[in-house]
This record gives sequence, C-alpha cells and structure tokens, in this order.
Amino acid sequence: MNTSYKNKTIFVAGGTSGINLGIATRFAKAGANVFVTSRDQEKVDNAVADLGDIANASGLASDVRDYAAVSNAIDACAEKFGDIDCVISGAAGNFVAPVESMSANGFRTVVDIDLNGTFNVYRAAIDKLRKPGASLIAISATQSLLPGRGQAHVCAAKAGVNMLTQTLALELGPLGVRVNAIAPGPIGDTEGMKRLTPTKEASATLAESIPIGRFGTKDEVADLALYLASDQASYITGAIIPCDGGQSLTGHGSLG
Ligand code: HXC
Ligand code: NAP
Repeated sequence: MNTSYKNKTIFVAGGTSGINLGIATRFAKAGANVFVTSRDQEKVDNAVADLGDIANASGLASDVRDYAAVSNAIDACAEKFGDIDCVISGAAGNFVAPVESMSANGFRTVVDIDLNGTFNVYRAAIDKLRKPGASLIAISATQSLLPGRGQAHVCAAKAGVNMLTQTLALELGPLGVRVNAIAPGPIGDTEGMKRLTPTKEASATLAESIPIGRFGTKDEVADLALYLASDQASYITGAIIPCDGGQSLTGHGSLG
C-alpha cells in the first residue's frame, strides 16, 4: 500500500517492542509522526531513537493501567504533533498458566493491562483525535475468539477488548471516528510466542495446525494496521479482523 501518512500522527501504546514497534515503524516509513509508550523509559528512548531515523518520533513512559499517566502521554503527543489521526492500543501481558495454578492477582494483572488498559487508552484519546477521520485500533488476539489452555486471563481480557471496540464504534461513528481491532494469530519472533511456544518442537506443532502452515510476520500485522487507519478503509468500523493464517477457523486455541 502506498498511502502517505505525511503530516499524520500515530500514537502506539506498548509501542516499544514486537508487533507494536513493527506497526510504529511501518507508519513511520509511510511518513507519519509517531509517539510510543511503554512502562520503561529506557525502552521508550531506544524505540524513539530508532524511529527517529525514519520520521518524527517521540514517546513517554506510561503504564496503561494508570489512567492519569496514559492521559498525560496522549496530551504530550497532541502537544508535540497536534491532533492524533490513529491510536493503537497494543500493550499487553501474558504468561501460560492453567486456572488451577493461576492466582487471582495473576488473572487481574492481565485483565488490567489488556482490557482496562485499552479502555484507558481509548478514553484518554477521544478528545485529542482529529475528527472526522481518525481511527482507534486495538491489538486483540485469536484468544479473543477461541479458548486456549493456559490462557484464561488473555482469552477473557481480549474478548472484552473486542466488545469494548465494537461498542465504541457505535458511539463514535457519528463523530466520524472508526474503531476496529486486529486479532493476530501466532506471529514469529515476538515475546508473545516465546512465552507460548518456548521450544522449537512446540512452535513446529503449532505452525502445522494453522491452515496457512506457518506463523505470521510483524510486517503482515503492520500492513493491516496501515490499511485500517487509511481512507481506503473509510467504511470499516467495529470490525474484529483476524490476521492469523486461518487459525481462528480451526476451532481450537493457540495451545491446543
Ligand atoms: C503464573 C504468574 C506468572 C507465571 C506472573 N504471574 N508470571 N503466575 N505463571 N509465569 C503472577 C505473579 O505471581 C503475580 O501474582 C501476578 O502474576 C502479577 O505479576 P507481576 O510480576 O507482579 O506483574 P507485573 O510486573 O505487572 O508484570 C505483568 C506480567 C509480565 C504480565 C506478569 O509478564 C509482563 O510485564 N509482561 C509484559 C510483556 C508480555 O507479556 N508480552 C507478551 C504479550 S503477548 P501473585 O499472586 O503472585 O501476586 C500477548 C498475547 C500473545 O499478550 C498471544 C499469542 C498468540
Ligand atoms: P511485546 O513485545 O511484549 O509487546 C508488548 C508491549 O507492551 C511492550 O512494548 C511492553 O513494554 C508494553 N507493555 C506491557 N505492559 C505494559 C503496561 N502495563 N503499560 C504500558 N505498556 C506495557 O509482545 P508482542 O508479542 O509483540 O505482543 C504485542 C501485542 O500483540 C499484544 O497486544 C499482544 O497481546 C498481541 N498479540 C501478540 C501475538 C504474538 O504472536 N506475539 C499474537 C496475538 C496477539 P514494557 O514491558 O516496556 O512495558
């Protein structure tokens, strides 16, 4: 896609590594001003330095669980670059644990980062969006569509992210703001897959179970985000779009 994002501004919560940094990089290459956050200021500084080689880049450490911190980061982005054209809510946490050995705090922690964090990002962004024309995009997961062993916290949280996304699409449609979610399946070379399939054997077994027969790439997710934020996607809102090589058609979750 050759859409130019010159003079447009993208805010990426959790944008300092993995899939989300891939998205920020893709937007930067398309000319956008990019602003990234995560909990760790050093990781933010490193990502900003890399992104700054490509486009205008800035960032601020902020934990998505802390509404005031998220709001502060959104304000800093708008102050630096003006109204925001696209907000990506991608911060997330994950570990593998069956419910019988998952503590209440472990469950709550993931729901707090993934679901409450997405509420905080969406809510804080609303007043700073360019209207009409802006869009919000959550990075969900196929776990939102399929149960997966050891993934009760993520499945519950990301299913909530989908419904929050669709509800907000109803509410913000009249303002000309679109709200969508991308549900990636297993994406190679990421922290998420290191946690879910720590061995080569586990990765190979999972890859074989996917209709396309392999893990996806960060670029494949980033290309979808670039399209969803563009004017070419102007009639798409409230969509939960799998980017999963068909995994969500197979009827079972990522860990079998
Ligand atoms: C069981 C665990 C655990 C584990 C943590 N906990 N790791 N329980 N097994 N492996 C429990 C802790 O014991 C504690 O409960 C509670 O979770 C909170 O742990 P903290 O370490 O205090 O939390 P915090 O410092 O906030 O860190 C959050 C985190 C951590 C999620 C636990 O892993 C993190 O920071 N993750 C961010 C990076 C990440 O996960 N990236 C992958 C995203 S991939 P108690 O009861 O002891 O107090 C993704 C989906 C991938 O989201 C889908 C792939 C297909
Ligand atoms: P990742 O590299 O660990 O990315 C997670 C990002 O979120 C990091 O920048 C992390 O930085 C940040 N973060 C974590 N907790 C945060 C918090 N409380 N506040 C602010 N930022 C926080 O993992 P990834 O595998 O690329 O996953 C990225 C996204 O894709 C997530 O939403 C994940 O659920 C989704 N996803 C991934 C896969 C996959 O195959 N990897 C599949 C489906 C969906 P800090 O640690 O510095 O805070």
